[in-house]
Amino acid sequence: MTPLEPKGPNAEQIKYWNAGSAYYFTHKDAIRAAHPPITRRLIDRAAAAIGERVLDVGCGFGDLTMELARRVGPSGFAVGIDLSSAMLEEAEGSARAAGLRNTRFENCDAQTYVFQEPAFDLTVSQFGAMFFADPVAAFRNIRSALRRGGRIAFQCWQSRERNQCVSIPLSAVARFAELPPSPPPEAPGRFGLADPDRLARILDSAGFADGAIEDIREKLLIGGGLGLDNAVKWFLDVEFRATLAQIPKELRPRIEDGMRDALGPYLTDTGVLMESATWLVTARTPR
Ligand SMILES: C[S@@+](CC[C@H](N)C(=O)[O-])C[C@H]1O[C@@H](n2cnc3c(N)ncnc32)[C@H](O)[C@@H]1O
Repeated sequence: MTPLEPKGPNAEQIKYWNAGSAYYFTHKDAIRAAHPPITRRLIDRAAAAIGERVLDVGCGFGDLTMELARRVGPSGFAVGIDLSSAMLEEAEGSARAAGLRNTRFENCDAQTYVFQEPAFDLTVSQFGAMFFADPVAAFRNIRSALRRGGRIAFQCWQSRERNQCVSIPLSAVARFAELPPSPPPEAPGRFGLADPDRLARILDSAGFADGAIEDIREKLLIGGGLGLDNAVKWFLDVEFRATLAQIPKELRPRIEDGMRDALGPYLTDTGVLMESATWLVTARTPR
């Protein structure tokens, strides 16, 4: 699969998700270990039925796309779209290995891709919809892929402050080093759709109806489990790698000790478990 050219409104994201996907490959198992409790909530709300046609926006390695393909069965299908050609190649390989013949993956930008017809009954996204340069344009474009009365169900992160799994480890770093400034709250990125009022306005302006935004709290297994050291490593080497890269190296041992102290209270028999806060958003296209 040829990587998308970094052009158009989401050129920066195209660059980021293609250059940065190596990191997701290395830590795929830890990411997979963390998500199941929230993925289950999304799958329940999406309520994909036999024979339905499903679009998964920002599908990454395609795990959710494949699960939905199983749920809609051979009379339906699931299409995953993403900016990263490497992740999609992995997704295609997994679907082939699983013998799923009703799954397809497309390398495209959900904001600008011209969907040929309103062919889908359901659009889902797990953490793939917070990166659009123009969210109204992107959700309007996604709506154009849905039939009349079609559904959307997606998950995005609430703010840093509401996510214990981000705020606690981040304050452990802040005890020893000055943190670089956070991006503006509405900037495309992990927390880009954290404001629920703005989220509701975006859906409304994009032409969706019956919007509902649910507050989901679930404990996530940090760093794939296997104890405290693994969780410390996860935050320092993975989650906060960009932040740590801007902090003098000699502070690292103190930050590491501080992180171990901060995470200690969350260690359980299965590993470090920390509370997450996400929005589970559902809406429909008008009938
Ligand atoms: C945080 S990852 C989530 C991947 C996967 N859904 C999961 O839950 O593991 C975000 C994904 O969204 C994709 N993405 C970001 N902006 C996109 C866009 N405009 N169109 C399509 N995919 C996009 C990225 O390439 C990336 O794979």
